[in-house]
Amino acid sequence: MKKFTLLYILALTAGLQTAFAQSASLAEPDVAVFYPKDFDSIHTLPSLAVLKELPKRDSLPASWTIKPEFTTRDGKTSVHFDLNTDIDLYGTGEVIGDLRRNGSEVTLWNTDNYEYGKFEGKQLYQAHPWVLGVRPDGSSFGILADNSWRQEIRLKNGVDIISEGPSFRVLVIDKETPQEVMVALGELTGTMAMPPIWALGYQQSRYSYFPDTNVQDLADEFRTRKIPADVIWMDIDYMDGFRVFTFDPEGFPDPKGLNAYLHARDFKSVFMIDPGVKQDSLYSVYQEGSAGNHWVLDSLGNEYNGEVWPGQVAFPDYTRPETQKWWASLYKDFMNLGIDGVWNDMNEPAVFDGPGGSMPDNNIHRGGGDLPRDVHLRYHNVYGLLMVRSSREGIMAVNPEKRPFVLSRANYIGGQRYAATWTGDNSATWDNLKMSIPMSINLSLSGQPFNGPDIGGFTKSPSADLFGNWIALGAYYPFSRNHTSNETEDQEPWAFGEEIENVSRTAINRRYRLMPYLYTLFHEAATTGMPIMRPTFFADIQDENLREEQQSFLLGENLLVIPRWAEDLKMPEGDWQDIAFEETDDTYQAIVKLRDGAIVPMGPVIQSTEDYSTKKLTLLINPDKSGNAFGSLYDDAGEGFGYQDGDYAILDFSAFKTAENTLKVSVKQTEGTRKTAREFRIGLVKDNQIIYSDWSSQNELTLTF
Ligand code: GLC
Repeated sequence: MKKFTLLYILALTAGLQTAFAQSASLAEPDVAVFYPKDFDSIHTLPSLAVLKELPKRDSLPASWTIKPEFTTRDGKTSVHFDLNTDIDLYGTGEVIGDLRRNGSEVTLWNTDNYEYGKFEGKQLYQAHPWVLGVRPDGSSFGILADNSWRQEIRLKNGVDIISEGPSFRVLVIDKETPQEVMVALGELTGTMAMPPIWALGYQQSRYSYFPDTNVQDLADEFRTRKIPADVIWMDIDYMDGFRVFTFDPEGFPDPKGLNAYLHARDFKSVFMIDPGVKQDSLYSVYQEGSAGNHWVLDSLGNEYNGEVWPGQVAFPDYTRPETQKWWASLYKDFMNLGIDGVWNDMNEPAVFDGPGGSMPDNNIHRGGGDLPRDVHLRYHNVYGLLMVRSSREGIMAVNPEKRPFVLSRANYIGGQRYAATWTGDNSATWDNLKMSIPMSINLSLSGQPFNGPDIGGFTKSPSADLFGNWIALGAYYPFSRNHTSNETEDQEPWAFGEEIENVSRTAINRRYRLMPYLYTLFHEAATTGMPIMRPTFFADIQDENLREEQQSFLLGENLLVIPRWAEDLKMPEGDWQDIAFEETDDTYQAIVKLRDGAIVPMGPVIQSTEDYSTKKLTLLINPDKSGNAFGSLYDDAGEGFGYQDGDYAILDFSAFKTAENTLKVSVKQTEGTRKTAREFRIGLVKDNQIIYSDWSSQNELTLTF
């Protein structure tokens, strides 16, 4: 390695062109693109990560510091960045372990990793060839390897990215702050589309609720017990012999009726669809797929088969435009049954009897359109992305007036454009609960804001205490879903007795009360690329003490969430005040602190987002030292695309101290044509209590306390 570096430097100083020379240019003022000398675009482009081909604006300024050295290592294409050791590293996608990634290694090869037990957990379900670096002064950079081939990221000595494919280009973003890097990443790779508001609600799942009457009872139980919830999930057992796009004739004879039942009780339904299509000559999806020549091929050019839930299956080749179209078309009859959302699982793709739990590297994807024919080694990491892209298009085509919701287990950087994600098959252990925070933050710092783990853990059965702690925290994950395996005890909020049922209700109530703020954060993520769940150090990027804090996290800029179990917490400076929600028993509840200088809109408790409205808002206010505070609200119909034509509202809130113990607040609509008559009250968050003003329909409010 050292020898190559030396050669490279010698070659540069001598002005020679060697295999290690490169070209570099600016695509944007703070975004550089580096190409190795032997770069051939056919092997890695068009990029499925970046939104559009990068412009070549200027040559690289001499002052640019984050530069790659393209080398070969053990015969593999590699890139190395020499970095000062005082730089903190984050991102690298879905990973277990600590928030700060320095010293870690990750293999980017989407893997069905039950209990994170295989490959020491260094290889999970998603691939994000992306590293965020934060310097001591807070200025930050991001490194994006624009490469989907199997690769490794090593953060032991600077940054090394070692690929099993041909040469690839590297993009570097260099900015004043990590927040600006996230926004630049959003500009490059796209942002999450605005989800329907119901997807922000609490969700209940298990492998599997069966039969349909069980699902109905579950919905009724939530409403009777007054535990708010929006979604019930249907796992694989609803299918007929695990054949995708079919229904078990006995367990789920009337899916349309089931969905109507759920809708009448303000629930939405999400149904699972895996990529593997059962090899069954009597099954219409398999027949169509074979007739349309839609399957991934083995190295000899024959249909590739491997084992998943239904037995031997064939895999759609989503690199083919015809296959994308065909797969999308399958959703027509399916969604017309009143299904609200789709869960795409096993799309690494997982193959039980395949090498390494997937398909052979030399399988063939035929491509078409922009994408060239190539081996699985190149397309493996984007298989999930291409699947959810197609699923999303299919869903959109059926219900063009609705916002699609797709959850995907596998994905690739940029895949936030098509699907939300969860962190796969975790376990009901304290370790997994604690680790869920840095996992979700690093996914968020890798461009995927809409994520969360299975609340309660997927494998094993949590104790009442562990579940209580998990739900109390899980109410604040961007994606908040309780899910468990088919081999575990019941895991519904009431399955652990009255105390934990109350804990669950309180935590979920709080999520729904904070919905106006949460929805505003989703809008911010969708428009700018800023994460929803953020590391605590985002509160003060120059405070190096915060760089490893991974027990607490920020929700947006204004709320800090601290689990009850947190110990030796590093707190950002400032007068962060606890929000004293009305419920009294806080034994398990996460502490939620409001930043000084912030205003957060809060609504009433509702049982589902069907009842969501911004007509009555409490403005939680923690004035800064000068007595001022600011905040905002994004509001729209919660569904559909009217917001793209102006049917939305952004309200700005500002609070000023007008006299001793007097707070004046004004509300102003600054954007959008959506008009709503609202009532407001001030909720001054102070000394562990909330002091309320009267409700008022005026846009100017005063509180004397
Ligand atoms: C996979 C998924 C899990 C699901 C199960 C059955 O293990 O990760 O969430 O319940 O398959 O479909």
